Amino acid sequence: MKTIFSGVQPTGTVTLGNYIGAFRQFVNYQDEYNCIFCIVDEHAITVEQDPKELSQTIRSLAAIYLASGIDPERSTLFIQSEVPAHAQAGWMMQTIAYIGELERMTQFKDKSAAQESIPAGLLTYPPLMAADILLYNTHLVPVGEDQKQHMELTRDLAERFNKRYGKTVVIPEVSIPKHGARIKSLQDPTKKMSKSDPNKKATISVLDTPKQIEKKIKSAVTDSEGVVRYDEENKPGVSNLLTIESVLSGLSINDLEQKYEGKGYGDFKAGVAEAVINHLKPFQDRYYELMESTDELDQILNNGRDKANEIASATVVRMEKAMGLGRHRS
Ligand code: TYM
Repeated sequence: MKTIFSGVQPTGTVTLGNYIGAFRQFVNYQDEYNCIFCIVDEHAITVEQDPKELSQTIRSLAAIYLASGIDPERSTLFIQSEVPAHAQAGWMMQTIAYIGELERMTQFKDKSAAQESIPAGLLTYPPLMAADILLYNTHLVPVGEDQKQHMELTRDLAERFNKRYGKTVVIPEVSIPKHGARIKSLQDPTKKMSKSDPNKKATISVLDTPKQIEKKIKSAVTDSEGVVRYDEENKPGVSNLLTIESVLSGLSINDLEQKYEGKGYGDFKAGVAEAVINHLKPFQDRYYELMESTDELDQILNNGRDKANEIASATVVRMEKAMGLGRHRS
């Protein structure tokens, strides 16, 4: 069986963008692949975090993974900082990455622009992401569109490592969904929906109440044409809402255009809100159940940590050996 690896940062709230671009993909892969999913808390601290809040968000993210359909019998779910190999391999990848290529990452440019003093970890974030992936001999990495550049760099670093030190790591492929790879902000549909958006009306959290969801979708920016039609360039707001309803309801964009033919944006938005609320209802019920049963979550995370440690520490030994570190005899 081939291996899938992906990670989500425990920062802020999990958005409908994360859900559609990432979690929904993860669930579908569980039958065909050996799936490993990670709560990347070491990535989260590249931006200053409140320690108490971070540890709560880590727990909550574990419950979100499971509530979205990750089955711990088939998939491995673990917390990055509980597997020391990530920090070890992250350092090795940093030593082969070039500052120039790291500075070209658009996410680094965006995130560092807002900071007076730029933490070094913001720059060296992609080599850690590469380490996450390479440690598990990963074949495929399902992510949203915004991680494409980081994935290209991961592949470059993996190839560079193998070229310099002999074939040691697997070169991973990326999987970006056809629909919903980039869910947009409800307030500025030219930008992606982002956890860190200060405008709370721009983002739907997967834990929002039905009332909050209705309100946010009602105030979503559209256009003045008044026709429900998919046209990403000229009607980004309407197209974004159509994408959301389509992926969550399973109806095609065409079906939805017919459904809303002759109807105004009021009816359209009410329909989109209903689809989101209906889809999230069973997910939210399971989430709250898991958050209450502390033992179940801990048990799953302990098992995940042990399984991940076994695979990752073996890869680290191979990488160290290849690089000539320590006293590994050949
Ligand atoms: P993060 O935590 O920002 O996002 C988690 C996943 O959600 C996807 N995503 C979106 N998809 C569609 N529309 C959106 N608006 C949207 N916003 C976010 C992201 O593409 C991602 O798949 N660097 C990663 C975390 C990471 C990782 C890894 C991922 C660390 N190591 C190894 C894969 C493999 C990140 O910041 O994701």
